[in-house]
Amino acid sequence: MTRTLSSIAASIFSKCAPAFRRGLPECAAALALLCCLSGARGAAAPSQSAQVAYDAAARVFRIDAAKTSYILGINEQGQVQTLYWGSRLPASDHFAAAKAMPGMASFDPPITTTPEEFVGWGGGLAVEPSLKITFPDSARDLTLKYVSYAIRGNQLSIQMKDIAREVYVTLAYEADGETGILRRSAEVENRTDAPFTIEQVSAATWNLPSGTDYRLRYLTGRWAGEWNVQEQPVNPGKTVLESRRGTTGAQNNPWFAIDHQEDGDPEHGGVWFGALAWSGSWQISIEQDMLRQVRVNGGPNSFDFAYRLQKGERFQTPYFYAGYSSEGIGGASRLLHRFEIDSLLPHAPKPKLRPVLYNSWEATEFRVDEAGQMELAEKAATIGAERFVMDDGWFGQRNNDHAGLGDWYVNPQKFPHGLKPLIDKVHALGMDFGLWVEPEMVNPDSDLYRKHPDWVLNFPGRPRTEGRNQLVLNLARADVRAYVSAFLDKLLSENDIAFLKWDYNRNWSEPGWPDVAAEDQKKVYVDFIRNYYAILADLRSMHPAVEIESCSGGGSRVDLGVMRLTDEVWPSDNTDAYDRLLIQNGFTYAYAPGVMMAWVTDSPTWVNQRTLSLEYRFLSAMQGSLGIGADLSKWTPEELARASKMIAQYKAVRETVQRGALYRIISPEYEREQSVTESVARDGHEAVVFAFLHSSRELYPFPRVHPRGLDAGSTYRIAALDGHLAADTPVEASGAYWMEHGADLELRGDFQAAAFILTRTAAEPARP
Ligand code: GLA
Repeated sequence: MTRTLSSIAASIFSKCAPAFRRGLPECAAALALLCCLSGARGAAAPSQSAQVAYDAAARVFRIDAAKTSYILGINEQGQVQTLYWGSRLPASDHFAAAKAMPGMASFDPPITTTPEEFVGWGGGLAVEPSLKITFPDSARDLTLKYVSYAIRGNQLSIQMKDIAREVYVTLAYEADGETGILRRSAEVENRTDAPFTIEQVSAATWNLPSGTDYRLRYLTGRWAGEWNVQEQPVNPGKTVLESRRGTTGAQNNPWFAIDHQEDGDPEHGGVWFGALAWSGSWQISIEQDMLRQVRVNGGPNSFDFAYRLQKGERFQTPYFYAGYSSEGIGGASRLLHRFEIDSLLPHAPKPKLRPVLYNSWEATEFRVDEAGQMELAEKAATIGAERFVMDDGWFGQRNNDHAGLGDWYVNPQKFPHGLKPLIDKVHALGMDFGLWVEPEMVNPDSDLYRKHPDWVLNFPGRPRTEGRNQLVLNLARADVRAYVSAFLDKLLSENDIAFLKWDYNRNWSEPGWPDVAAEDQKKVYVDFIRNYYAILADLRSMHPAVEIESCSGGGSRVDLGVMRLTDEVWPSDNTDAYDRLLIQNGFTYAYAPGVMMAWVTDSPTWVNQRTLSLEYRFLSAMQGSLGIGADLSKWTPEELARASKMIAQYKAVRETVQRGALYRIISPEYEREQSVTESVARDGHEAVVFAFLHSSRELYPFPRVHPRGLDAGSTYRIAALDGHLAADTPVEASGAYWMEHGADLELRGDFQAAAFILTRTAAEPARP
């Protein structure tokens, strides 16, 4: 029966698809009904627990996935309106038809008060629009009404159209059955007979349930101080998180989470969260309107933006992902981590575990050469590194940051025989080889700039402002894209390279694109990023074994857009193991520990001149993907021996750290003296706890640690990984004991650290 309906649905879909694209509602409805009945799967195979359904009588769409329901309907005005977003509701619950909100006197008409899924700027809209267009006759009015829909497995698309003009918008929804995270985007299509200009466009508008006690969390930062978690009440008015930098930036990160202010426990209460997958200038606005309704809009930044859409062209927005957790901010982070690992990263659902890498930057800076790198490689191999990465300085005339960017040939003075002898040596030592590149940049002191001064972003006749003595190549240009693609392909084809650290060390300035028509120059904000993604995608398909890290002077290019195309990210140039606790804490609100590179570097650190023990530095870095960034040529035999032991310990627990569920047992926020994190393996067989003390005070003991996420009824054996457990700690106890009674650590003094593992004993039944 199912198979028959599936095949009927598939055949109807192929017949109806062109009609649907033209916006014929009847065909789409028939198709959707059949797809629902048959469970026919679309291009993206829906998970078992994601369902999309349409109630034709009430004109209500229902998306149920994992523990979340998202409901929307078509109201009597033909607007698409949000009806519910929160915990999953029983299928037996039915929603009444959507009804537009009443206006608030003559000043706030229903267009402003109704929580629409996507609203054009027109008809007196006073809140943030999802889309704003200027037409050639200078009209700037857009009123979108429902036209048709289609359902394919876990995907819903809804087509809307302006009341008069041939402007179509298709909203796309895809539900993830594992996490309930929804992926939304919008496509704007110009079927008029002339170009028009998009001045603002959201990937999605998210409407929260009415509430007056919301709290917003977001991330702020700067170079060497990324990933600060901010909290503020959501009040009437608007908060805009954004980047105007041409890239993701560290000042804000494109992530938000909203919960209720009274929810103090990080593991309880409802949280609505989202992340925009865009690595260019972006904005997310969180707005509470005059009826205290909260809406969140996100997309490319509208500041200095315009995108002229020619007749017949379509504009596809980036994706905006959002989800709901009833398990507090901790649960929200875990859903995002799981989604990233299982559904987003290039090799999802089985991204390779991150190897322990060595990176030469802090050891040598630009002073790289064959002998020095070989010596470091030997040391790195002895302590158990699996990947050796040569950082900046190996190419062109790159002896400092004033020259060489753009000239991607191996420096003949430093590497007279090319890279091969070094790569061979690294392989012989049992490691793979990685290399640093910064493809989108050029130093004015380079052969490339001397040959192509017109390739950079610039306004003719105006200064070209440098950052770190470099300019930004205009990747939106076809010739620049071709150059970058070609040199990377050549580098990877001629050398046995397993990994690229792709850096990006400045923001944009003077973002001109003089070679295109004045009306098209601001397209650079989108076309640059699309070409960046295209280069990454091409490179991955030409060299599928190569892994890539996204770095931008630290953590300035970390977002779900770049994470679809890279295997790991660099959160910060700040490698001080104490500062890192706060940096890593903020990072993991949005992004998985498994992609978070963390190096052990020398002490005292260059950042704060702080002296920290080797153990402290290791345990701090072991909470993410471990790397070594120290000058190993200066380490004593004892330090090397200690390092090899800790690297071996990390390898034994890395799957749990990189793929497991993260619990912030004690967050280092609010100037706390302690920080404790716990990672629980997917199958619950193991938990790893890392604990840090800033300073003991007044004889107070270190707070008792209460792990979470264990099987209450199973027995777990405890073992110190580093540091000491209290003498009276039992060797084995139930999950309930560890979670309820807790474990005591002997931590006293300044900058102390410890770690322990809980292992489920073999006799116990495995988790279902
Ligand atoms: C940036 C990166 C560093 C290092 C240098 C090299 O600052 O974040 O890790 O690669 O560039 O110039």
